[in-house]
Amino acid sequence: MDQAESLREYMHRHQVQQEKKHNSRMITIASGKGGVGKSNFTLNFALALKSIGKKVVILDLDLSTANIDILMGASSSGNSLADVLHKRKYLFDCIEKGTGGIDYITGGLELQDLLLLDHENQVFFMNQIQELNSYADFILLDTGAGISKILVDFIIASDETILVTTPEPTSIADSYSVMKTVLQYTSQAPKFRLVVNRARSYREAIDTSRALKNACSVFLKMGLNTLGFLMEDAHVQKAVRSQSPFYLSYPNCEASKNMKQIMYTFLPDMEVNSPVPIKGVRGFFEKMLSLRK
Ligand SMILES: Nc1ncnc2c1ncn2[C@@H]1O[C@H](COP(=O)(O)OP(=O)(O)OP(=O)(O)O)[C@@H](O)[C@H]1O
Ligand SMILES: [Mg+2]
Repeated sequence: MDQAESLREYMHRHQVQQEKKHNSRMITIASGKGGVGKSNFTLNFALALKSIGKKVVILDLDLSTANIDILMGASSSGNSLADVLHKRKYLFDCIEKGTGGIDYITGGLELQDLLLLDHENQVFFMNQIQELNSYADFILLDTGAGISKILVDFIIASDETILVTTPEPTSIADSYSVMKTVLQYTSQAPKFRLVVNRARSYREAIDTSRALKNACSVFLKMGLNTLGFLMEDAHVQKAVRSQSPFYLSYPNCEASKNMKQIMYTFLPDMEVNSPVPIKGVRGFFEKMLSLRK
């Protein structure tokens, strides 16, 4: 039995009861091209969900530039998941409170480090991370720019991926590449939904989503649903400059109205009983372990 298998067995024996209580959905926010608005989307989407009583934790897994805290003007304690991995901290020491009471955790780890740990530390990490299951409805994973193997793994391991694109042809092409690359690593197409950001008109947003949808259908034989559109809105930049999320600073601006719409499209789908079981936090990390072997 290898390490990942023995860990799975241990988790199964010890954690089934806890798992039954609740299961957080792991939602990866990804893009092909960088700078298309993933972090702004993640933060403001989290705030929109929180405003109607959903419990959301943002996991900042952008290993190169951790900037969710900067967008909120928050200063974090410096604790990260890497500290849990090395048994220096408990998970709840790493959950920071940001603007609007949003919870976020800095990743700060290379997940392959998980495999290098001894069994006892792996179990400690998995037990700790699993506490999120009874804490959050949604865990939003903000990822870095560009298509890397680790991004592919995040996408395969999570319950759903929200792909953020802009109407620029380069961004559309890179979004398509993300889906194409992921399909090279798995026979079961993961759930993707599209958000078109920075569209200058609804026409442009619709054309962008149609272009991607058609490419997916023709070349990848895969359906692609659109979650929604966010218009180009100067309030987003103003909010970034003042380090205060637009959903809180400018609740009536176009981007905030778009975000509300996105949230109301997102939620009903989540509440319908999905034929695919939720992987949740445990499923996510177990899958990551098996993909990193
Ligand atoms: N809807 C919008 N309207 C106007 N400007 C926007 C909009 N969305 C994002 N921006 C601008 O794009 C910039 C980049 O956004 P953000 O940092 O969220 O991108 P990112 O995809 O997370 O980048 P990275 O790939 O580097 O992590 C923001 O600072 C803001 O100026
Ligand atoms: Mg970002």
